[in-house]
Amino acid sequence: MQLAGKSALITGAARGIGLAFAKAYVAEGARVAIADIDLDRAKSAAAEIGQAAVAIQMDVTSQASIDAGVAATVDALGQIDILINNAALFSAAPIDEITREDYARVFDVNVSGALFTLQAVSRHMVERGIRGCIINMASQAGRRGESLVAVYCASKAAVISLTQSAGLNLIQYGINVNAIAPGVVDGEHWDGVDAFFAKYEGKAPGQKKKEAGAAVPYGRMGRAEDLTGMAVFLASNDASYVVAQTYNVDGGNWMS
Ligand SMILES: NC(=O)c1ccc[n+]([C@@H]2O[C@H](COP(=O)([O-])OP(=O)(O)OC[C@H]3O[C@@H](n4cnc5c(N)ncnc54)[C@H](O)[C@@H]3O)[C@@H](O)[C@H]2O)c1
Repeated sequence: MQLAGKSALITGAARGIGLAFAKAYVAEGARVAIADIDLDRAKSAAAEIGQAAVAIQMDVTSQASIDAGVAATVDALGQIDILINNAALFSAAPIDEITREDYARVFDVNVSGALFTLQAVSRHMVERGIRGCIINMASQAGRRGESLVAVYCASKAAVISLTQSAGLNLIQYGINVNAIAPGVVDGEHWDGVDAFFAKYEGKAPGQKKKEAGAAVPYGRMGRAEDLTGMAVFLASNDASYVVAQTYNVDGGNWMS
């Protein structure tokens, strides 16, 4: 029960890694707001978890929606002790085919969405004197560019940089900002990645996933549950002296 009595807002938690975080946090004694652009799915996820979870409508590309989602979370849970900036979009294309529209769509969610949700929640924490914790979801894609994944990689590099700056700025209030950089985690997100590589590299459906899993030193793709230990640790009192860091949780794919 490392998070007993804590309240957490997790964006993009209607499925995948965010949902696994929500379940793990509830198992550690927290209450969670499942904030997602897909409200129906957020409601199903909250119902599956039970009374410790509430579904919140939030589109992180809209300031009004962020503000309303933060206010609704505070109404439902009393306050926010932990934020996980988890919502994100993936995209892939060779440089020649990148469009301004796709760049803006991905950066709006992955970078602006994370920054302005962090801003809204940290304002709430400072106002209430909450020595809170913010976890940003980065990626191994933020550590190194990839030939077909320029926009997503750049967006995750920006998340790592924002984690450093926000961590340094907010620690004066006792607010800890850190990030997790997963490797390749099976789920709907990676179904989309697989489809992109099928299109651009002519691979059979499922082939890129097999290759990505086989290339992980651990010997398989990650599962959402492989990331929950780090998410619990970073939100716990044990991590209070960990500031502005990005942790790789990727089966050995990347070292930094
Ligand atoms: N799956 C992987 O292999 C992997 C690897 C590295 C990093 N990550 C990162 O981990 C995080 C979670 O990944 P996942 O695999 O669970 O992704 P996912 O695509 O399965 O889930 C993303 C969630 O975000 C929500 N979302 C999308 N746009 C939104 C918006 N504008 N406002 C609010 N919610 C929105 C979606 O509805 C969805 O529920 C992401 O930040 C992702 O970039 C994932």
